[in-house]
Amino acid sequence: MNKITVSAPGKLMLFGEHAVVYGRPCIVTAVGQRMKVTVELSNDPFFELKAPDVSVEGYKKQMIDLSIGEIPKGAKFVEIAMYNFYNCYKSYTKNTGIRITTKSQFSSQFGFGSSSASTVCVIKALSELMGVKLTNMEIFKLAYKTVLDIQGVASGFDVAAATFGGTLYYVIGGKILKPLNLPSLPLIVGYSGIKADTVTLVNFVKEKAKKYPKVIDDIYTSIEDLVNLAKKALLKGDFQTVGELMNFNQGYLSSLGVSNDKLEAMIYAARNAGAYGAKLSGAGGGDCMIALAPTKSKKAVEQAINKASLPLRGKAGGQHIDIKTNVEGVRIEKYGK
Ligand code: MEV
Repeated sequence: MNKITVSAPGKLMLFGEHAVVYGRPCIVTAVGQRMKVTVELSNDPFFELKAPDVSVEGYKKQMIDLSIGEIPKGAKFVEIAMYNFYNCYKSYTKNTGIRITTKSQFSSQFGFGSSSASTVCVIKALSELMGVKLTNMEIFKLAYKTVLDIQGVASGFDVAAATFGGTLYYVIGGKILKPLNLPSLPLIVGYSGIKADTVTLVNFVKEKAKKYPKVIDDIYTSIEDLVNLAKKALLKGDFQTVGELMNFNQGYLSSLGVSNDKLEAMIYAARNAGAYGAKLSGAGGGDCMIALAPTKSKKAVEQAINKASLPLRGKAGGQHIDIKTNVEGVRIEKYGK
C-alpha cells in the first residue's frame, strides 16, 4: 500500500474551557464536519503539501529538512506531526518522500480544531502506511506532543475529540478520558465571524491570574463543580439543567474576560428565543457560541442567532452552522487511489 485517506472530526467544547488548562475537567464533543487527509509515498525524497483551505499550495522541501527553517502557518501541524512520527518510529519509516493533501469540511476560522484534526490524521495515516499500527492512545499522545511543540500551551481536548470521537469527559494530557454514552445533542452553533487566537487568550487569563490568583482559582473550582454536574445531567438527558449550567459557565467565562459583546448578543438572543442555555465555546474572543434548545425552538433560536443585535451598534448577528454531535473519531476512509 502506498496511499491512504483518513479523516477526523472537528470539536466543540461544551463545558470547562480555560479551567481545563489548569487541571480541571472539561466536556467536549466531536462534530460531524471532518478533516480529510490523503498521504502518499513517493520515490523522490521530498515532503510535499497541498492544503488549499489554509492557503498552502505546492509547499515542498527535502525530507531531511523536516522541521528546519521557516514553516508557513498552514503547514506547521502537518510537518511537525510528520517529524515527530519519523523520530519516534525510525525503524519503521521507509526511505521515500511523502505527498500530503488536506481537505476540510469546515472553515479553519470556526475554531473547530482543524489543526488538531489534521495532526491526528497525519499520524494515523503514517502509522498505517508504515505498518506501525498505533492504538488510538498512542496516536493521541504523539498528536498532543505535536500541538504542545508548536503552541507551548494546550490541554489537548481537541486532539482527544479528533482521535476518540464521541463526547468525552476530559482532563489535561488525557489523564482522564471518559467517553459519555449520549445520543446526539440538540445543539445549535453560531459563528461570530471573528477569528480567535487561543494562545493569546490563554495568556491573557494567565496574566489575570497573576494579579488575582485566589479569585481566578475559585472561578476554576466553580467551573469544575458545574462540569461535574453537567456530566450527570447530560447522562440523564436533563437538558433543562444542562442549559442552566451552560449559563453559569458563560458567567464565569465573562468574568475571566474572554467573552465579548458580539458573543454576548448572540448568547442572549438564543436564550430569549427559547434555548435552555447558551455560552461561548472554546477560547472566547470570537469563534463560536453554542445553545441547547428544545426541538420546538430550534428554528427560532437559529434565526435569533443570525439576527442578534447590539443596542448601540446595530446588527451583531452570527451565522448558524448545522452540526451533528458525538460522532466517530479518526478513521480510515480509503486505501489507494
Ligand atoms: C480553547 O479552545 C480551549 C482552551 O481551554 C485551551 C485548551 O484547552 O487548550 C482555552
